[in-house]
Amino acid sequence: MDEKTYEQIKRGAELIKMGELVAFPTETVYGLGANAFDENAVRKIFEIKGRPMDNPLIVHIASKDDVYVVCSKVPDATLTLIERFWPGPLTLVLPKNPAVPDIVSAGLPTVAVRMPSHPIALKLIELADVPIAAPSVNIAGKPSATKPEHIKLYFGDKVFVIEGEVEFGIESTVIDLTETPPLLLRPGPIEPEKLKEILGEIRYAEKSEKPKSPGLKYKHYKPSSFLILLTKKESLRDLKIPRGEKKILFVLTIDESLKDEAREALKEFRVDFVFAGKDFREIAKNLFDILIRGEKYDILIFQGVEEKGIGLGIMNRLKKAADIII
Ligand code: TXA
Ligand code: MG
Repeated sequence: MDEKTYEQIKRGAELIKMGELVAFPTETVYGLGANAFDENAVRKIFEIKGRPMDNPLIVHIASKDDVYVVCSKVPDATLTLIERFWPGPLTLVLPKNPAVPDIVSAGLPTVAVRMPSHPIALKLIELADVPIAAPSVNIAGKPSATKPEHIKLYFGDKVFVIEGEVEFGIESTVIDLTETPPLLLRPGPIEPEKLKEILGEIRYAEKSEKPKSPGLKYKHYKPSSFLILLTKKESLRDLKIPRGEKKILFVLTIDESLKDEAREALKEFRVDFVFAGKDFREIAKNLFDILIRGEKYDILIFQGVEEKGIGLGIMNRLKKAADIII
């Protein structure tokens, strides 16, 4: 870690101790952190993001043993998960330790906890010497920041930023272990297939839900442009866009095979193409940056991916962000 980064972390840790907010990179996305035990500091997170008070936060710790500082009960299967996946992008929902203020868990008897693997995140928590409550860095409902410039766009100079690179680009996998069988609340970088190896059966909170077309139910990860999600290559034929002066960004994934057909189907419009990546890891890493940069366009058309492995996490974000799914 270079000198400049270390100085930023030291300054960040001081701010956390003083009850202020700090943006810091994790291996998933940037987090907007506050001392998890300081109710007033945590309140600032909800205020600056415009986050509904009933949406609980994740508490980040720097050592596995600190799970007992945050949670009151840690079942055996959970310890196996912790051994295998921490530090890393897996968030566990467990019974809350009463010492954690209710504002963190939005009044729920459970709390979400994870030990990140990013060296900057770990060092910040260590130097601040407290667990850090942190959601993604974004205005509530907007795509999560994965680069310092995204944070600037959302908050200007209002939050102190420790600069660094994220690794995955989508938020952690969240699993509720207080449910039987465990409930996958949010798919992410840790594939559900791997969780099943340890937990046996798991339930999917959302997979069974039919996506509602015009983004009525979901207001998440939403760019200001109109987002159309293509779930299969043939969907391109069903694409109907009313004529007019519109700038379109077409996002290709995995390969470029759809490009010519898309150019032909949209020949009446001004279309730019961008390639999100050749595999799930690359697409995940570029996803939010493309959604945020795509705000300069009237319409974004995103070529979907197969819903397996990390692809499930990618499609989960895109389905929530989409205005139309075809
Ligand atoms: O990768 C990540 O998880 C990032 C980095 C910063 O760690 N954080 C993140 O936080 O994505 P946020 O607040 O954007 O998403 C946390 C999710 C929300 O969907 C929230 O509802 C859920 O976790 N959550 C938190 N506590 C919960 C609880 N006690 N029960 C159920 N869901 C909970
Ligand atoms: Mg978020």
